Amino acid sequence: MKHPIAILISGRGSNMRALAEACAGEDYPARVALVLSNVKDAAGLAWAAERGIPTATVEHKAYGGDREAFERALDREISASGASFVCLAGFMRVLTPWFIDTYRGRLINIHPSLLPAFPGLHTHRRALEADVAVHGCTVHHVIAHVDAGEIIQQASVPVLPDDTEDTLAARVLVEEWRLYPEALRRALPKG
Ligand code: GRF
Repeated sequence: MKHPIAILISGRGSNMRALAEACAGEDYPARVALVLSNVKDAAGLAWAAERGIPTATVEHKAYGGDREAFERALDREISASGASFVCLAGFMRVLTPWFIDTYRGRLINIHPSLLPAFPGLHTHRRALEADVAVHGCTVHHVIAHVDAGEIIQQASVPVLPDDTEDTLAARVLVEEWRLYPEALRRALPKG
């Protein structure tokens, strides 16, 4: 059985594409029921729509500062799509405990560092500044503390002497595309 998933994005959506491409495989245990964005011109939305994947936008701006009202609108879209599992893929809003509790155990995220190293933003720059030899990405369950939930799977890349933020980000991103479908397969309920 294919589990219906919703993928939440804010921009480019390359991890969403990697998940959608994996889901197109007959033996992959998920299908994309919805690509949902908080930004109406997110590039990933157009890519999904062109492929016949259902898409929706809920703009956080429309809710002023009321984060829970925004999230209740997200939840309505997710529920209407039939999705029972949520993958955050470059979704640039911090979620409240209400949303996180609603999707407890069914909500995962990809983060571009080897957590617990470098939670938060600008991970590649910070990895270079810290002069680490190894960097990477992590898929983890989402809990109320940002970038701190149980780790599902990680992938690492070497940091090379002449790396810039961009070259390192590109090397990590290739691993993200491989990692996220594998980690989702692991995280889905069995059966
Ligand atoms: C990725 O690096 C992801 O790990 C982070 O945000 C970026 C999103 O890129 N959370 P994309 O939109 O999936 O291309």
